[in-house]
Amino acid sequence: MTRKILVTSALPYANGAIHLGHLVEYIQTDIWTRFQKMRGHECWYVCADDTHGTPIMLRAEKEDITPEQLIARVHAEHSRDFAGFHVAFDNYHTTHSDETRQYSEDIYAKLKAAGLIEVRSIEQFYDPVKNMFLPDRFIKGECPKCGTMDQYGDACESCGAAYAPTELKNPYSAVSGAKPELRSSDHYFFKLSDPRCQEFLRRATREVCKGQPEAINKLQEWLGEPGENRLTDWDISRDAPYFGFEIPGAPGKFFYVWLDAPIGYMGSFKNLCKKKGLDFDAFWGKGSQAELYHFIGKDILYFHALFWPAELEHAGYRIPTGVFAHGFLTVDGAKMSKSRGTFITAESYLAQGLNPEWLRYYFAAKLNGTMEDIDLNLDDFVSRVNSDLVGKYINIASRAAGFIAKRFDGKLDARHLNEPFRAELPGLIEAGEEIAAHYEARDYARALRRVMALADQINQYVDRHQPWQLAKQEGQDARLHEVCSLLINAFRILTIYLKPVLPKLAHRAEEFLNVAPLHWRDAGHLLPPAHLINPYEHLMQRIDPKQVEALVTANRESLAPTVAVTGPRSGSPGTQGAPAPTSAEPSPQRKAQHQQATEDKTQGQAEPKAQHISIDDFAKVDLRVARIADAKHVEGADKLIQLTLDLGTETRNVFAGIKSAYDPAQLVGRLTVMVANLAPRKMKFGMSEGMVLAASDADGKSPGIYLLSPDSGAQPGMRVK
Ligand code: MSP
Ligand code: ZN
Repeated sequence: MTRKILVTSALPYANGAIHLGHLVEYIQTDIWTRFQKMRGHECWYVCADDTHGTPIMLRAEKEDITPEQLIARVHAEHSRDFAGFHVAFDNYHTTHSDETRQYSEDIYAKLKAAGLIEVRSIEQFYDPVKNMFLPDRFIKGECPKCGTMDQYGDACESCGAAYAPTELKNPYSAVSGAKPELRSSDHYFFKLSDPRCQEFLRRATREVCKGQPEAINKLQEWLGEPGENRLTDWDISRDAPYFGFEIPGAPGKFFYVWLDAPIGYMGSFKNLCKKKGLDFDAFWGKGSQAELYHFIGKDILYFHALFWPAELEHAGYRIPTGVFAHGFLTVDGAKMSKSRGTFITAESYLAQGLNPEWLRYYFAAKLNGTMEDIDLNLDDFVSRVNSDLVGKYINIASRAAGFIAKRFDGKLDARHLNEPFRAELPGLIEAGEEIAAHYEARDYARALRRVMALADQINQYVDRHQPWQLAKQEGQDARLHEVCSLLINAFRILTIYLKPVLPKLAHRAEEFLNVAPLHWRDAGHLLPPAHLINPYEHLMQRIDPKQVEALVTANRESLAPTVAVTGPRSGSPGTQGAPAPTSAEPSPQRKAQHQQATEDKTQGQAEPKAQHISIDDFAKVDLRVARIADAKHVEGADKLIQLTLDLGTETRNVFAGIKSAYDPAQLVGRLTVMVANLAPRKMKFGMSEGMVLAASDADGKSPGIYLLSPDSGAQPGMRVK
């Protein structure tokens, strides 16, 4: 029976590079969809960039481009990286699309009509300089528990405490540095506390997560005992300025990124339907017979197993057949780390000339369909790929191919080899269904163990018959021909079993074998007698451990500019695992924190830095060329000069402590450099809106102060970086 299957991977944020952690997911999903296609099912794999939210808005602003420009660039980078690892989406779309907008508005309207949307006023930190409400991860301050400075608004990286941003001591905005103010504003809530939702989720989540007991346990904790009503309403709106979709009928209010992100799955599929003439409702309509699966990381289970099914159900769509959560990637047993060079981007892996299929194989050998974290052990990576793939599998072809070419004109034995094949290599054909069942269950580790056991068996056959000896003996031609033909057939069957994991290699093997693209059912028969094969070219190199060393060296710290993103770093509970629910009732605030942490988490898993700052930290300082339009003495101040600085598009009032070295008159007209995004500071003499840069010696001996100036030609307002 042909199944209709729609598969998704989580939509990566459009504000950072794809790294090896991401690839765990996309490779896992790609293997599964390739497997389903090989089985002859109708299977579609869609994904998209997740483009909305505050971090993307701010990042674009920082780069001085529009969010649309940023997401277009990142879309191209992500597409390139996925293609580089042979991740073959049927469609890679964007959430900033007409389709996603349409379904977001539709789902919202239906939830509203069902009485599941409520407007409530909430209090939140507001940045009075930047004029925006601040997500928790954009508020910093001293940890209320241990006092560590510069902690984020949701959790302390030093002591691990989780708290609300209002609990931080001396909070400041990570965007402008200003002291945030509490302000209230109307927010839109999806009423998850409604008995209809609670009742539905209790039934549905078990179903959606079946086969993953750890996930079911988590959901159970989140939902609480029947009648307990632990789920609180979900805040689905954000105030302008926000990069996203404006809520119909609510000017200045936008859908929170996590509202439209999963709807992006529908949007991407709808877009594919238009291209291929598919029937959208056959997959998403209520009562659809198609299967729908979401592959995700365990950190976003909350959204996919609770919010998302509840949205779909109450808006009249089908719910997912399954949500498949996987664990997080560690490298050599630890979190990926920039300083150790184990925070490796997809781009740098490919740029170093490493074969993407090595990684696909290694990940597959570790993935078992559970939520356990998976470790990329770099030594094991080298030895496993070399011994399994090259030493066991490729070896079979390379040992037989030469004789077929040289001694038999590339032609396989003209006899029917079914009998000897089944007698000499028992179980090789029969293993197909068992291996398929492991792929189906996403236990690729088991599938590959089985395949490698078969490869061992075939290599034992080689050792028993020693074709290189037969080749030297008189009158053994027929025997040699048979042995090598059996080996070529065995290699072909292993190729089928490995094809979901190694698509490119399989393609080259198909060329060598001179066969049409292999399907799973092709493992049930041998090549026809006297089949002609092509000359063998080596199919895969061994990994040289030096290549891995070079990769790590190339990624040590130096990658910061390509992977770091605005403001928040990750490493909080929101990033490295499910939202660590405690046995206590998670407060709405806690949940909001989690959502926010997840929204704002970055691609990075940076560690706290001792002395260095990242290029990103540096980029937070907005340095500009300024022309001193006016300079005056300040009545009653013996160190200060009041400067009027022209930035091209605006002027700033700045009090500078340079009176001991400069006379105001000599300053007017000259260019200097100022910090343009320093939080305004109220001084005795008025507001100071920035700072000029000057050098001075340590003991401040007169004149001792040297104002910086750019080379001639610089224009007011130019960024200094
Ligand atoms: N944009 C959200 C998902 C929205 S889905 C409607 C998001 N993006 S992400 O870029 O942070 O992560 C994308 C996927 O990659 C998530 O499933 C996440 O769990 C996974 N991974 C990100 N880092 C990972 C590791 N280090 N290890 C394994 N998977 C990881 O979340
Ligand atoms: Zn702390």
